[in-house]
This record gives sequence, C-alpha cells and structure tokens, in this order.
Amino acid sequence: MIDEIRVLAGDAVARARAAGTLDDLRALEAEVVGKKGALAGFKRRMGSLDPDQRRHVGQALNAAQWEVADALGARRDELDQAGRRSRLERERLDLTEVRAGRDAGHIHLVAQVIEELEDTFVGLGFRVAEGPEVEDDWHNFSALNFGEHHPARDMQDTFFVDLGAPGEVVLRTHTSPVQVRVMECQPPPIYTVMPGRVYRNEAADATHLAVFHQLECLVVDRGITFGHMAGTIDMFTKAFFGEGFSTRLRPSYFPFTEPSAEVDVRRPDGSWLELGGCGMVHPNVLANCGIDPEEWSGFAFGFGLDRLAATRHGITDLRDFLSTDVRVLEQF
Ligand code: PHE
Repeated sequence: MIDEIRVLAGDAVARARAAGTLDDLRALEAEVVGKKGALAGFKRRMGSLDPDQRRHVGQALNAAQWEVADALGARRDELDQAGRRSRLERERLDLTEVRAGRDAGHIHLVAQVIEELEDTFVGLGFRVAEGPEVEDDWHNFSALNFGEHHPARDMQDTFFVDLGAPGEVVLRTHTSPVQVRVMECQPPPIYTVMPGRVYRNEAADATHLAVFHQLECLVVDRGITFGHMAGTIDMFTKAFFGEGFSTRLRPSYFPFTEPSAEVDVRRPDGSWLELGGCGMVHPNVLANCGIDPEEWSGFAFGFGLDRLAATRHGITDLRDFLSTDVRVLEQF
C-alpha cells in the first residue's frame, strides 16, 4: 500500500508540474487530494490494517499529501504570475506616446494669449512676475489704498477664505496685489507684467466669469507720465490685434491710481470692447511699498485676458472657455 501511495504521489507531482492551466490544477487537486480523491480512498482502507501498519501508512499518506499540495501550490504561483504578466502586456498603456495631428491636445486659448502677451512685453524689456491667488487683505486692498469701507471689499465682489481673522484672507479679486508684491521686493526702476487668475463673486454671463484672467502691467521709474502709459497700451493693442484696432481712455476711478481711466479697444467694425483699467500709481501706494513718491512715479494697467482671447477669435460667450467639449478648443 505504501508503494502504491508513493507511485500515486510521484505521478501527481509530475502532472502538477506539467499542468497548463489553473483549471487543470483544480481538477488534479480534486482527483488526488480532494475529499473524494485517491489519497482519501487509501485513508478509508486504513481501518482494516493492524496498528503498526496503520502508523506507517498514515505517515506515508501525510507525506504524499504535503508533497502533492506543495507541487500544486508551486505550479499555481507560476501560472498566476504568467497570467498577470500577459495581462499587463495586453493592457499596457504608453503614457509617453504622443498622438500626432489635431488630436495631440491644445493649449487653452487664454493660456495662448498669456504666452503671447508675455512674449510681447518681454520683447519690450519687461519682466514677468506672479503672485498667489489666495491673498491677504493688505495686498489685495489696504496697500492699494482701498479705504476701510470701500464697496469693493463687500461680500458682493469678494470670495473670502475661512482662514485667519474674518475677512483677512481672500481669493484675489484682481492682479493688482502682485504690483504690491513686486514693489515690496525690488527697488525701481520696475517694468513688469503679471498675468494670473482672479476671482469675483458674480453670476457668470456672456461677458462675465466668476473666475477669469488678467494681465497687470506696472512701470515705476523717474519721470514716467500718463503719455507713456497711453503709448504703451496703444502699442501693445496693435502688436496683439494688428493694425485696424485702436484704443481710447475714459476717465474713471480706482483707489490705487490717480488719475485713472478705463481702456476700450475699438474693433475694425467700429464696436468697442471694454478691456480694463489703468492709471498713474497713487502716491500712497508707492509709499505703502516703501518707494518715495517724490522721486519715482509710475503707471499701471490691468486687462481682462478672457475678453482679449474672445475678441480675437470671435467668441461671443465667455462661458465657452469653460466648456468641457473638446470641439470648442479644437477649432483654434
Ligand atoms: N485692478 C483693476 C481691476 O481689476 C484694474 C486696474 C489695474 C486699474 C491697474 C488700474 C490700474 O478692475
């Protein structure tokens, strides 16, 4: 009987090693070590043996059981691993693969405008700076000469962040706080543009978004005049849109510039686009940033970039910029 058991075990081990599939292994397992398998059959026959023989046969059965179970387990691991390897190979995703042609992805229209404007201004000798989108009251308002009770601090326009003292931390409502940051960390002369995302607590419509983009420009030097500002704005409008576009300035008010103006761009069809604000940097703002207003003067402007991009591409609803339909961007 012991010889029969050894032969059975040796045969089962050989078949396990040669098994080609997990199903084959399962069948072999049932046939040999399962409850109704061949080894169990020997166990049932043990009852008729005398105690000494029973002990030897019992040991042989246990040894056979382990031997076969080991061979089944080892082959199962091999088959599992091979299966995983082939599945990995089959389902492989090459994330470095670049798809050719128009499917290759697009830089968003607003990002295109930002890159182009940066190039235009860098070509004129300007630097580019950026600031945080989550700002403190000092940079977004106080340093910019907003009085304590200026309406722009109202809940209506500003998203407040639940950090620090109430009302202390905001999502910046414009890129002008970056002016303050630039002046705080570098002495004049300053020729810098500052693009970025800004936030206003407003309902979105065709010409307004709650999250939009501005390009801020700041020049601080000796003897800077309103004429330098008007000339710079007109120059960049023509550089960006091409001939046929012109600009006008309308008197306006901002706490941080004096005098202040609104900038409109005239389209070739004679219609006007409201672009943003501008003005001579208020002496209080220079002083707040540690710059002597007796020695230095400057101008600043801030433009809505989403409107620039829309005008250039004939887009009539700014909300299209937020569309998740790739066909919108694919046109450009
Ligand atoms: N920050 C102003 C706005 O968002 C625009 C502006 C910038 C006006 C610089 C004057 C000078 O409306």
